[in-house]
Amino acid sequence: MTRRIAVYPGSFDPIHNGHLDIIERCLPSFDELVVAVLQNEQKRPLFSVEERLETIGELVAAWPSVRVESFSGLLVDFMDQLGARIVVRGLRAVSDFETEFQMALMNRRLNPRIETMFMVPKEDYSFLSSRLIKEVFNLGGVLDGLAPPQVLARLAAKLGPREDGR
Ligand code: PNS
Repeated sequence: MTRRIAVYPGSFDPIHNGHLDIIERCLPSFDELVVAVLQNEQKRPLFSVEERLETIGELVAAWPSVRVESFSGLLVDFMDQLGARIVVRGLRAVSDFETEFQMALMNRRLNPRIETMFMVPKEDYSFLSSRLIKEVFNLGGVLDGLAPPQVLARLAAKLGPREDGR
């Protein structure tokens, strides 16, 4: 039987609990899930691709069907190399829909065998984004339960201690 390989692509700068919730929700549906970190220096990421691969690798280590890789260029080309047909994307709110709809249709136009599956994260994370994690961390806000301790430690190492010293 053909193995069901899905790809969960993104910037993951950094990964947060909303992403991890989506990954966990994928487990029953796919034989393999590849978390695919986009290499794009134009986005001026806070964390290098190597740092993101290392962090995500630690966080998914307990799930044998999940692995992390980086990619550059077209997502559909990367998926072809893997033999993957499904793109997984999280939909947090209606505001995500338009961009996601465009990306899904463009990917299908580029490779008609590729389908996008949208997953809805736990409602506790529906407002969460990597951008907000970085902003709130910088301003000393409490992020407990929103990002894993490994990520908070890496943010502290990169940005210095938070304003409240935690
Ligand atoms: O976490 P992000 O930044 O929303 O992820 C966006 C991502 C990486 C999924 C998207 O930018 C992407 O797939 N980039 C690869 C380039 C590509 O294939 N572009 C055309 C398809 S829309």
